[in-house]
Amino acid sequence: MEAYLAIVSKREVRDYLPDPIREEEMNQILEAGRASGSSRNRQHWRFILMRDRKRLRELSVLVTRPANLTGCAAAIVVVLTNPRAQFDAGRAAQNMMLAAWSLGIGSCPNTPADEPGLKTALRVPGEAGIPTIISLGYPAPGAPRPRPRAKPEEVLARIDRLPLKDLVYREVYGG
Ligand SMILES: Cc1cc2nc3c(=O)[nH]c(=O)nc-3n(C[C@H](O)[C@H](O)[C@H](O)COP(=O)(O)O)c2cc1C
Repeated sequence: MEAYLAIVSKREVRDYLPDPIREEEMNQILEAGRASGSSRNRQHWRFILMRDRKRLRELSVLVTRPANLTGCAAAIVVVLTNPRAQFDAGRAAQNMMLAAWSLGIGSCPNTPADEPGLKTALRVPGEAGIPTIISLGYPAPGAPRPRPRAKPEEVLARIDRLPLKDLVYREVYGG
């Protein structure tokens, strides 16, 4: 799928097929996180890949929307080893979700409801944080899914987002 179409068409998927994600595709998703840029290339992130659905169900109570974890095929816990690198974590998370989308795999970010509890359960040490857990899976029937032949302008005309005129302030510099 073309990069621009993937970016503008990416929607959160919260209903997944139970099928495991193919190994090759999972590696591509993780490589997309690894390849992300970060401030001074510090790469203050680590990723915990979770594929055991029983374990995902156990941990689901620790995020704000447990159903996303009870129903997903896999999840990637984004661990931030420096709490000041939130922006970098966002870049890595979005890259992984876009890579997944371009492969036909749905995803959703999940905010911890009990971050200390999650850290304990996953044995995440020290001052490291967990900004998000990405739930992943092939979209269930009826869930949003990538449409590689869609036209970006048609997608943009339909999305539930503020229009550019309300978002962008154009500097008029006369000096
Ligand atoms: C920082 C952040 C945290 C989010 N946390 C959750 C979450 O805990 N559970 C969830 O279902 N969606 C979560 N989302 C997804 C948002 O609800 C979603 O991006 C927004 O509603 C747009 O969805 P759409 O692209 O499908 O239109 C989060 C998104 C962001 C950016």
